[in-house]
Amino acid sequence: MKHKIMCIVGARPNFTKIAPIMRAIKDTSNNLEGFLVHTGQHYDEAMKHSFFEQLGIPEPNVDLEVGSGSHAVQTAEVMKRFEPILDQEKPAAVLVVGDVNSTIACALVAAKKHVPVIHVEAGLRSYDRDMPEEINRVLTDQISDLLFTTEKSAHDNLAREGVDTDRAVFVGNVMIDTLFNNVEKAVPMAETLKSSEVELDYKESGFGLITMHRPSNVDDKEVLSLLIKSLAKISNKLPLIFPVHPRTKGQLEKFDLLDEIQKSNITLLPPLGYLHLLDFMKNAKVVLTDSGGIQEETTALGVPCITLRENTERPITVAEGTNTIVGADPEKIEQAFNEVMTTGGKGGKIPEFWDGHAAERIVEYLDTWVKN
Ligand code: UD1
Repeated sequence: MKHKIMCIVGARPNFTKIAPIMRAIKDTSNNLEGFLVHTGQHYDEAMKHSFFEQLGIPEPNVDLEVGSGSHAVQTAEVMKRFEPILDQEKPAAVLVVGDVNSTIACALVAAKKHVPVIHVEAGLRSYDRDMPEEINRVLTDQISDLLFTTEKSAHDNLAREGVDTDRAVFVGNVMIDTLFNNVEKAVPMAETLKSSEVELDYKESGFGLITMHRPSNVDDKEVLSLLIKSLAKISNKLPLIFPVHPRTKGQLEKFDLLDEIQKSNITLLPPLGYLHLLDFMKNAKVVLTDSGGIQEETTALGVPCITLRENTERPITVAEGTNTIVGADPEKIEQAFNEVMTTGGKGGKIPEFWDGHAAERIVEYLDTWVKN
């Protein structure tokens, strides 16, 4: 009989991480069987369905359909709905990825039921507990039985928190597996722009890409206004394309900032599917973002990245990759932008084990691990 690995996804960045793991379980293991639970944290067409389709993720075996809510409501709802599934399916282990609310919710239910928890992308720390994800990371790692890491700094972070690092295995980055598997399949930008009925003449000057959705950037009127002002100024030098996350869209409307964007050279798009965003990212002169995953993807693609946060939990993207951290300070943003425009940005190299084979290493390890 095969050992059932219950894999959890909830929000957009989880989909890109689970795709290669589900595939590797199916293609490379005779011993393991994947069982996919989608918590329903993200549910819109643009936030969920296009990812499943584009990344070839199998239909989830179960969809908990929790939807949006406060952190407490969302986390509690996942836990409540996940428990009976766990009881019924009796998996050999529960595998969670990343740092979203669904990650900690399912890990907590499993740990209390003595079902082994596997955390993929363990040990990353921003050391900023204002970030809800940081709390999810710290707690998930504490209750995980097996921790797979993307960079070696994660092992020091785990050791500092008293986690037994014998349980941590450096395997590389599954998100980059997905990137390398799909980079040739990216949907051409021109097609996306056409279907969004957006006209943009980017060929001569090139363009920059913005993604922004962190509560610290978009939930405070003053911070978001300053950021938009600063991005609008930059857009006079380089046209900017901005696919807008639903949270950000709501805040731009609430704070009356759409007018200012309209007057600038920033072009808004709806949230994009994975293969759609990929072509913009590949071709951008620079990416301005507060996303964790995009800091890594730009490093792997060799595209300069300006991170609109005060810190990063992915320090290797700064030390070895193309990432520069600037926060939300307009002066620093402009300075970093000018630097990219004059020098072409940091060169960087692709970090160790970000080679497209991390999921295979995970499954190879699990094959032996489950037997014990
Ligand atoms: C979540 C993750 C964050 C991740 C991000 C990627 C947590 C704590 N945060 O943040 O780490 O970087 O996903 O997108 O888990 N909404 C929709 N449609 C959807 C989903 C959300 O309209 O399909 C709107 C709702 O108004 C919702 C808001 O977006 O209230 C925020 O969604 P939520 O899942 O709570 O957090 P994210 O900001 O997406």
